[in-house]
Amino acid sequence: MGLVTAPTTPTTPRTPPTTRWGILATGKIARAFATNLHEVPGAVFAAVGSRSEGSAAAFARDLGDEATRAHPSYDALVADPDVDVVYVASPHSLHLEHARLAFAAGKPVLCEKPLTLNREDGQRLFASAGDLFCMEAMWMACHPLIRDLRRRLLAGELGTPRQLHADLGFVVPRDDESARVWDPALGAGALLDMGIYPLTFARIMLGPFAEVMATGDLAESGIDIDVVVAARHESGAVSALTTSMTATSPRTASIATDEGTLELPRPFHHPPYAVWTPTGGDPQPIEPPSPVLGTGLGNEAAHVQDCIRDGLTESPLVPRAQTLELLGVMDDLRRQLGVRYAADA
Ligand SMILES: NC(=O)c1ccc[n+]([C@@H]2O[C@H](COP(=O)([O-])OP(=O)(O)OC[C@H]3O[C@@H](n4cnc5c(N)ncnc54)[C@H](OP(=O)(O)O)[C@@H]3O)[C@@H](O)[C@H]2O)c1
Repeated sequence: MGLVTAPTTPTTPRTPPTTRWGILATGKIARAFATNLHEVPGAVFAAVGSRSEGSAAAFARDLGDEATRAHPSYDALVADPDVDVVYVASPHSLHLEHARLAFAAGKPVLCEKPLTLNREDGQRLFASAGDLFCMEAMWMACHPLIRDLRRRLLAGELGTPRQLHADLGFVVPRDDESARVWDPALGAGALLDMGIYPLTFARIMLGPFAEVMATGDLAESGIDIDVVVAARHESGAVSALTTSMTATSPRTASIATDEGTLELPRPFHHPPYAVWTPTGGDPQPIEPPSPVLGTGLGNEAAHVQDCIRDGLTESPLVPRAQTLELLGVMDDLRRQLGVRYAADA
């Protein structure tokens, strides 16, 4: 019997599978996302679309490469045949309209948070997606350390959680750059802009809410600017959550269990590390178990790519039902606060 030799015909070099991203809008988070994409294996920043030709061109020039296309409209972006997935980064009140544009063009969507202004519109958005992948851009849930802490809690490694505190607040200046965050027509308000992070954190760490209560301060325009939420979860554990547009708040979180305290330093929603202190014991630092890509928005993009390659229509980390559940909780909290948007009519 002759020797078995290696085949002499050259094998085709394996190109890694790529995902070509189209970015809809050119604001602050769109810039951060495009910057993060450079850290994501297999991600290509293929195109950007803007209401303004000049903005699209400047964005592509600053954050893309020579192959990145700049489209002078959102319609042109979603119609680009060389875009695999659309990232919707417009103000919340426009997410439904803009996600629908992408779905009509057959494109899956990663849509900024909050998905919509209320639960009913969220249901409409997901119904429009049909079998196309769609996920709310809750990047916190994709962060390697947040995922690891959740796994530890669910596995009972840190005891039984009983109390959770979480806060997210910034002083939002009243300038042109922050106009969106003060404009009721665009869905302004602390709860939807920032409070969604403490709420989602409490939901993913402690399970579904059983009861939520809110009080807060409103601006003259009727939007909520400082909010405190007291909640009880179905497990019996309780949460105290705060958010602010007027104060440099701590931006930390902690979870107290019957065996110790877990602390997340600021910014808790993409924490550099956490500290577990068992009752009567020494503090133990916990690092992210896998690399944080960019600021963490990269992990979200990588997760979306994995989901799409696996043929999923929704994310296991940010399931559609959970997004809708939280939109319903925020509807309830806004009713208590007396905050209404035109979309609620
Ligand atoms: N994941 C996060 O950490 C994070 C952080 C901040 C914000 N967000 C979310 O991302 C979304 C965008 O926030 P942002 O801070 O990037 O807002 P922004 O800086 O005000 O940018 C919003 C962009 O949306 C487009 N747009 C379309 N119609 C508009 C209208 N009528 N008025 C204003 N802008 C309009 C504009 O892009 P063109 O002019 O190019 O069309 C604009 O640049 C919000 O839903 C927000 O909650 C998420």
